[in-house]
Amino acid sequence: MAIIPIRRAGDPVLREKARRIRTVDKSLMKLIEDMWETMYDAPGVGLAAPQIGISLRLVVIDVGDDNPIALVNPEIVKRSGQRQCDEGCLSVPGYRGEITRSRKVLAQGLDPYTGKEVRIKAEDNLLAEALEHEIDHVNGILYIDYLPSPDALVPLTDAPEVHA
Ligand code: NI
Repeated sequence: MAIIPIRRAGDPVLREKARRIRTVDKSLMKLIEDMWETMYDAPGVGLAAPQIGISLRLVVIDVGDDNPIALVNPEIVKRSGQRQCDEGCLSVPGYRGEITRSRKVLAQGLDPYTGKEVRIKAEDNLLAEALEHEIDHVNGILYIDYLPSPDALVPLTDAPEVHA
């Protein structure tokens, strides 16, 4: 396993629509292991492959509920409602910002460990936020895109950070 440097906003890889994964093979599993290690080291609650410079549709999420999730070719299949989230991103270090996310999220993707398609439901919690945040990453979207203005980006002081 290896910790890989995290790309920052301004890096073009973060703005690409990442490629679909065709095969879950050994090298993909190795990449997933590197993503876990990089995410936990950061530390963050989620990481998408483009954040380590790999333009593939692959995300990992661990919101601390003892249910870490790796998803290949993830997508949001349904979302509804709105809520305000105070969000951060490992690719935008030192800042946070308040944006609007969905209340209910239904995501799906391939679980690389079982080889099965899975659906994940989340409502009004960090998992719902992380699913939208990470799946945005594989579509070239950053949370700062949702800010009403650049001034809405708040520098972090010593407040606890949640980064994804
Ligand atoms: Ni992020």
